[in-house]
Amino acid sequence: MPRTLVKDALNATGPMEVILLQGWVRTRRDAKAFSFIELNDGSCLKGLQVIVDAALPDYAHITKANTGASVEVRGQLVASKGAGQKWEVVAEKFTVLGEADATYPLQKKGHSLEFLREIAHLRPRSNLFGAVFRVRSRLAYAVHQYFQAKGFYYVHTPIITASDAEGAGNLFRVTALDPSNPPKDATGAVDYAQDFFGKKTFLTVSGQLESEIFATALSNVYTFGPTFRAENSHTSRHAAEFWMIEPEVAFCDLHGDMDLAEEFVKYLIRDAKEHCAADLEFFSKFVDKELLARLDFVLERPFQRCSYTEAVEILTKSGKRWEHPVAWGDNLQSEHERFLTEEHFKCPVTVYNYPRAIKAFYMRLTDGDAPDRQTVAAMDLLVPGIGEIIGGSQREERLDQLKEGMTFHHLDEKAYWWYLDLRRYGSVPHAGFGLGFERMLMFVTGVANIRDVIPFARTPGAAEF
Ligand code: 4AD
Ligand code: MG
Repeated sequence: MPRTLVKDALNATGPMEVILLQGWVRTRRDAKAFSFIELNDGSCLKGLQVIVDAALPDYAHITKANTGASVEVRGQLVASKGAGQKWEVVAEKFTVLGEADATYPLQKKGHSLEFLREIAHLRPRSNLFGAVFRVRSRLAYAVHQYFQAKGFYYVHTPIITASDAEGAGNLFRVTALDPSNPPKDATGAVDYAQDFFGKKTFLTVSGQLESEIFATALSNVYTFGPTFRAENSHTSRHAAEFWMIEPEVAFCDLHGDMDLAEEFVKYLIRDAKEHCAADLEFFSKFVDKELLARLDFVLERPFQRCSYTEAVEILTKSGKRWEHPVAWGDNLQSEHERFLTEEHFKCPVTVYNYPRAIKAFYMRLTDGDAPDRQTVAAMDLLVPGIGEIIGGSQREERLDQLKEGMTFHHLDEKAYWWYLDLRRYGSVPHAGFGLGFERMLMFVTGVANIRDVIPFARTPGAAEF
């Protein structure tokens, strides 16, 4: 007999003579003549109530069906007499497949998120994490739907790379050398020419540079994969391993890029609202009361846009006492970003045209800036509660300018020969961005820590599981 998922049983349009359910016991309540079991199989937030009659021969095993045990139930789906549920199952056959030890840590009482992180192998069985990871799955699917429907091609960019796309130096090294006895060159330094790839290699920080190769061939492309940064950031928004979605569009400028980012973010929010309604409702009840109102608010309005220079003016005139002082030329800190989106604009805001020195080498130099205040066509999308969720730019498509940018950022042209070739052979204006998938999930679920929207968080000092 095929299995029925709890989700489908709960959505049944009529009673059913016999169905087979498999799942885990959330709770069991024993009355005199029968027991109630709340069965959850992860297919949706809600469980299905199962009634096991004490007269049933299998009832002898009922005490083994403790919280966390896996069970199989064959029975009748009938209209429920209890409140809050439409259907329940009257068991005819009841089997405990795997008992749960009395040490099963997920008991009925609520647990702190910190504690649940320590049991990341069990937390998907909790209401909160079940909901988070269902939304994560759905939104990953929606990413592909969005781009595929728009005619973008999906490119698998490499995980192992020899180039530092962001030029920030936060790279994890990939090596097959023996750390206790690496080969040395004439100067006594480790000789990476003898390493597996014949050069220094790293885990990628971004698929962008390789995406540009494909955008200048297939026009509209995107990557969606894991990226790695060895930043020693102990914040609720940084992970050492995270997933990034990076579209790259040929024949597109910064404005087209900002439009795409806005449309894409709104699409994902709408998709989650439509396909994960029960899970979002759960978040708005137990995680963030403002969540649904905020998502609606974001959907209804155009995002605001302001240049970096205007942003600095707003911050300077705000009268706020900043922990990190504001000065033209400095990076915006989290407190500044959050002020702009949460207090000043009270809405998502895209800040564009940043000082050249604080952005990556590949960004297009803006025409007509004063020499001492040169900016590049960069954009960051900032949202309430989080700050930056998207970073993007129009790319420098002019060969000479790009070379000059590499010199400016102290990069070795030779290592980027193929990247420069794209500017030699049919160069076109092009632009793209990266959306941090976990930050987007934080925004959609209201969950405040990045460690709680990724199945297994990789952060400084933590790589269990
Ligand atoms: O702003 P970033 O560094 O941009 C890039 O990597 C570009 N190459 C993207 C592109 O234009 N194709 O990163 C993009 C986004 C950030 O806005 C943020 O949402 C996320 O990636 N991100 C992180 N998320 C979690 N943990 C980290 N350590 C992150 N670093 C960046
Ligand atoms: Mg950024």
